[in-house]
Amino acid sequence: MKIIRSPGAMTAWSEGLRRERVRIGLVPTMGALHEGHRALIRAARLRCDALVVSIFVNPTQFGPREDLTKYPRSISRDRALCKREGVDVCFEPSVQAMYPKGFQTTVNLPAIARRWEGEVRSHHFSGVATVVSKLFGMVRPQIALFGQKDFQQSVLVHQLVKDLNLGVTVIVRSTVRERDGLAMSSRNVYLTPDDRIRAVTLYRSLRAGAEAIRNGVSDGKSVQAMMRQVIKAEPALTIDYLAVCNPYTLEPLSTVTPRVVLLGAVRLGPVRLIDNLLVTVPRQRS
Ligand code: PAF
Repeated sequence: MKIIRSPGAMTAWSEGLRRERVRIGLVPTMGALHEGHRALIRAARLRCDALVVSIFVNPTQFGPREDLTKYPRSISRDRALCKREGVDVCFEPSVQAMYPKGFQTTVNLPAIARRWEGEVRSHHFSGVATVVSKLFGMVRPQIALFGQKDFQQSVLVHQLVKDLNLGVTVIVRSTVRERDGLAMSSRNVYLTPDDRIRAVTLYRSLRAGAEAIRNGVSDGKSVQAMMRQVIKAEPALTIDYLAVCNPYTLEPLSTVTPRVVLLGAVRLGPVRLIDNLLVTVPRQRS
């Protein structure tokens, strides 16, 4: 497995392979790899000839009061995981290489990025859209894989690729969960043992919403109220948002449609958890 740090060397490697019609896959990550990343890497491995995993903790997607400096970093473990999974290149650019002196262009965000996470974390999606565009430009992949855990991010990346004609096929893989249902996330290491037990409440709340929809509740506000009730039973949690949305536009739904995404974000002490569930309404009711 190669470790490439310079964007120029990364592009030269990819261009050489593309000339030979080798299909390149990219799994963009911020490191601290877990089972969710492993699933993405395995899915990517099956779909491409040469696989790049980028490991870059992108400063522009963190707000001033967020966890950039203490974001978990485990580069040796990450490289070992990548090697075991047959990754061809770990692309590990430095902050200086990604944002050199004089860097000034960023991506202007579509409407889907202004809601939900965008409201709570105003810089976040601009940083994500910019770094993903840069990674695509440097790695030149034909396919890129993202996790459903960051549902809004995946919708944004689809829109970005479409609007800017980036020529990358975006594949989204379902969330990998712990045994009790908590969505895997690099930030779960911040949870204290007690909070780790409480954290699964978010997933339970989404499940309650999904069950209500499957049992015939079609009013968006009623579904939202049921999800809220589950969270409220755990006083340590504070709700940022719980929403019943159209999965393509992320607009809130007053009446559920055949396909719905339930989005949730809560705070548990200093830790912020996000999760989502896609729900398909049984055909006879749609
Ligand atoms: O999902 C992530 O880990 C990050 O947002 C990404 C896509 C690697 C961009 O920094």
